Amino acid sequence: MDVPFTADLTGKTAVVTGASTGIGHAVADLYLRNGATVIGIHRREKAALTGAYVPVSADLGDPEQAREAATRILAEHRVDILVNNAGLNLRHPFEEFPVADWDRVQQLNVRTVVELTQLFGRPMLERGSGAIVNLASMLSFTGGFTASAYAASKGAVGQFTKSVANEWAPRGVRVNAVAPGFVDTEMNEALVADETRNRQILERIPAGRWGTAQDIAGAALFLVSDAARFMHGTVLPVDGGYLAR
Ligand SMILES: NC(=O)c1ccc[n+]([C@@H]2O[C@H](COP(=O)([O-])OP(=O)(O)OC[C@H]3O[C@@H](n4cnc5c(N)ncnc54)[C@H](O)[C@@H]3O)[C@@H](O)[C@H]2O)c1
Repeated sequence: MDVPFTADLTGKTAVVTGASTGIGHAVADLYLRNGATVIGIHRREKAALTGAYVPVSADLGDPEQAREAATRILAEHRVDILVNNAGLNLRHPFEEFPVADWDRVQQLNVRTVVELTQLFGRPMLERGSGAIVNLASMLSFTGGFTASAYAASKGAVGQFTKSVANEWAPRGVRVNAVAPGFVDTEMNEALVADETRNRQILERIPAGRWGTAQDIAGAALFLVSDAARFMHGTVLPVDGGYLAR
């Protein structure tokens, strides 16, 4: 599905984490098509992206690799936009939730987001301009089921977004989040395949369909564009009406 929205990102450089699949891939692709240079940070897979695309390999679940990748990128590029997209959901009934899995989710979904925001945000503050988009979730607002670590992490992403936006808005750096509803990506393959859960989910979405990665990319383009110049600390639901139900 195409994205019927354009914004001029010519001359801008964006870092997108987890750009090889799903929402991150769609965001990277849309930014490229709107004139940006995109630096994608991947764990393993190469992204099928062309044009002004610069792939960087790092396991963002490892704080040292995350820091090292950011330092390497910043040594060579002026980064105007950061999209903290890479994320992980590990599901267990809470009474059996392995603490190691809890930590893995917090490490990637929160700690890495915090550290990359600091590292890429500091030079933005020095220049007095920049835009950061974090990937929140419906579980920033609701608790979900067997996803306690993920819900806690995405709640943190929402509050973190607002908190940093308060500090950085007067200094020219806009920090916002997109909160996708149910989007048909790898992360949700099991839910899409489960006939009962799939039907239950669709019944709860007023728009009557799963979201696409492109639906989310459109919002991520809007939030970094000048059209969103007065937007700070928003956690923007893009959910087919799910939260309104
Ligand atoms: N799909 C949805 O319904 C949905 C809903 C709400 C929020 N989100 C959020 O959107 C973001 C993207 O998710 P998606 O749906 O595109 O799923 P996805 O699984 O396709 O994408 C996740 C990306 O993160 C990358 N990643 C995971 N662990 C990594 C690591 N250790 N180091 C580097 N990269 C790593 C993956 O390689 C992948 O590219 C996530 O933050 C997710 O929580 C998704």
